[in-house]
Amino acid sequence: MKLLIINGPNLNLLGTREPEIYGNRTFESYLMELREMLDGVELDYYQSNHEGDIIDALHEADCDGIILNAGAYTHTSLAIADAIKGIQVPVIEVHISNVASREPIRHVSMIGGVCQGTIAGFGLKSYFLAAQAFIIE
Ligand code: DQA
Repeated sequence: MKLLIINGPNLNLLGTREPEIYGNRTFESYLMELREMLDGVELDYYQSNHEGDIIDALHEADCDGIILNAGAYTHTSLAIADAIKGIQVPVIEVHISNVASREPIRHVSMIGGVCQGTIAGFGLKSYFLAAQAFIIE
């Protein structure tokens, strides 16, 4: 199985960005552990701060599933929602924080309705749980 993680804006700052919300671990360090935990899964990773680049990555994805943390674009981007609708590869929406317990604007997801499902609030473990959702029959 081949999966692709796409991280959106500001997620390159994990480790130092608002550690009380997002923890103090870099994504690169977690990714190494995730690849070990997901033995037998080919796990690709892409991060961009730019909406159009995220859309291009969705269009170009050649894999069995996409784990997408669109960051703040989750709450604003009809264009990313349209891109997800336009591709055949299933997408799971992921958040590190429990967006439902944060400011009202974060309760709105433009992409939730076009994704297979959403996993939020489990810290970096949210990515592992999303991968399991693709792997478990
Ligand atoms: C986030 C939640 C978003 O509201 C926020 O803009 C992010 C990160 C999360 O993973 O918890 O950048 O997607």
